[in-house]
Amino acid sequence: MSDQPLLHKQLIDALTAGGSLRTESWKRAAEEVPRHAFLHGGFFRRVRGAVPAAWAPVLEDDVGWLEACYADESLVTQIAGTIVPPDIRGQIMRQPTSSSTLPSLVLRMLEDLQVDDGMQVLEIGTGTGYSTGVLCRRLGEENVTSIEYDEDVAARARAALGRLGMYPTLVTGDGLLGHAEGAPYDRVIATCGVRTVPAAWIEQTRPGGMILATVGGWLGASELARLTVHDDGTASGPVLGGQVSFMLARPQLPPPLGLLPDLGTGTEREAIVAADVLDDWTTRFVVQAAVPGAQRLTLEQDGQQQHVLVDVESGSWAALYSENGRWIVRQDGAVALWDAAEEQLGRWHAAGTPEEFTITITPDGQTYHW
Ligand SMILES: C[S@@+](CC[C@H](N)C(=O)[O-])C[C@H]1O[C@@H](n2cnc3c(N)ncnc32)[C@H](O)[C@@H]1O
Repeated sequence: MSDQPLLHKQLIDALTAGGSLRTESWKRAAEEVPRHAFLHGGFFRRVRGAVPAAWAPVLEDDVGWLEACYADESLVTQIAGTIVPPDIRGQIMRQPTSSSTLPSLVLRMLEDLQVDDGMQVLEIGTGTGYSTGVLCRRLGEENVTSIEYDEDVAARARAALGRLGMYPTLVTGDGLLGHAEGAPYDRVIATCGVRTVPAAWIEQTRPGGMILATVGGWLGASELARLTVHDDGTASGPVLGGQVSFMLARPQLPPPLGLLPDLGTGTEREAIVAADVLDDWTTRFVVQAAVPGAQRLTLEQDGQQQHVLVDVESGSWAALYSENGRWIVRQDGAVALWDAAEEQLGRWHAAGTPEEFTITITPDGQTYHW
């Protein structure tokens, strides 16, 4: 453990040099919170080259554990909703469900939150409790409320924070509902992604207060947005950019795909836009806003690659394949998904493919503007 102070200092120096830590007050808070104290249960390291992704446990006594705690890396701490590192020997191939976010993103977000002394902050997604701990050191534990969906994750965070003498209000439950008992908040910060910013967060934020959250969706493109809450109960603000990605809030995870559609049916036409435009993050972000229920998959069928969008709720699908240099789309269901995607991209291209977006939230819903 003797290397720990040096590793911690090197991390803080790197975060400062890289621009994530920009103010003295957050720097002091980060200096006072040792990240390894939130990772005593170990973490999962991604197995290099494994497809699909596989994860191997790294426990506290393993070589490299402490160094990883002070590297600027996200460290997965739970897989498939229940599995923690000591549960596994070898490898596991399931989705991560909790992690300690990479410190540069944690600190960048805390700086972007634009807090002042004495502000009340609501955090959604306690995770390991590391970011909660930094918030406590910056604002005082009496000003920090943090919500974690998963009971076991919440219990481990509570224990880690308690060992460091920090006792913020920790709530176990669905953070999408906020925590009305502690409202109004000056700031809401989410360290899980959302498809739409929940009305409860806006209702529980003081007018003039801010909500910082990663907005994304089931096409897998997300961005950090900072919304200001207005007197009339609406909220708006810029998408800050940087292709920030978080695991989605658990109740907003995509539904199972169910039976795949029969791709031989539907209406066929030549596509105006090729399916591989969705490989680009920002293009995907733009399309996702037009077809928010769509999930994307690629299928190999009869030697041909099919790029498929499926909207489980409306029962709609679109499948695209390339033939002799042309893209063909077949689609069916209540929503013509590729028509909607092409129309959205048409508007975006006509505006010159701007990369700066704003979001407005009113009782009618969430709208993106460029
Ligand atoms: C990336 S981790 C949080 C990282 C954490 N802030 C840290 O510094 O370690 C995201 C967390 O959000 C939690 N989560 C997901 N959906 C949630 C919800 N609806 N309400 C509260 N927490 C949620 C997950 O269980 C997970 O622990």
